[in-house]
Amino acid sequence: MKQVLVLNGPNLAQLGSREPDVYGSQTFEDLVETCRRTGRTLDLHVEVRQTNDEAELLGWVHEAASARLPVVLNPAAFTHYSYALRDALAMLTAPLIEVHLSNPATRERFRHNSVVSGVATGTIAGFGLMSYQLALQAIAELAAVQEAAGEDTVLDG
Ligand code: DQA
Repeated sequence: MKQVLVLNGPNLAQLGSREPDVYGSQTFEDLVETCRRTGRTLDLHVEVRQTNDEAELLGWVHEAASARLPVVLNPAAFTHYSYALRDALAMLTAPLIEVHLSNPATRERFRHNSVVSGVATGTIAGFGLMSYQLALQAIAELAAVQEAAGEDTVLDG
């Protein structure tokens, strides 16, 4: 079964009580359960983690880079200023999907820039927990396309 890391940056463990008008009333536990459930339907083994610590997040990205794992990442506030995170993400070789619960483009100006987007395979924002479900779906589809391409190569070869 394909393994996927779902990584979450600062303040996301506070979902449910954190600005519910922006992020909704669902909790981080709901997020974890949604990702696991979605993973089961897509035949993906999903591991969800959250940290408020930039160094810990970088360590997880290094781990994904070494193991060539696909990553779904909500970098939270790091999105907007962490060049260290961007540099770490640039080492990934499997797909990286950037996700946001809210749509940062419709919010304060400082949220309009993502230093992560330039090294992501794609970005999904504004759909609440569904952003994570769509990202996992993208990972599963990309894996299927890659597998089919591999098979074609064998057939061609
Ligand atoms: C967020 C958007 C960021 O601007 C913010 O700092 C977050 C959450 C989102 O999921 O909408 O912490 O990444």
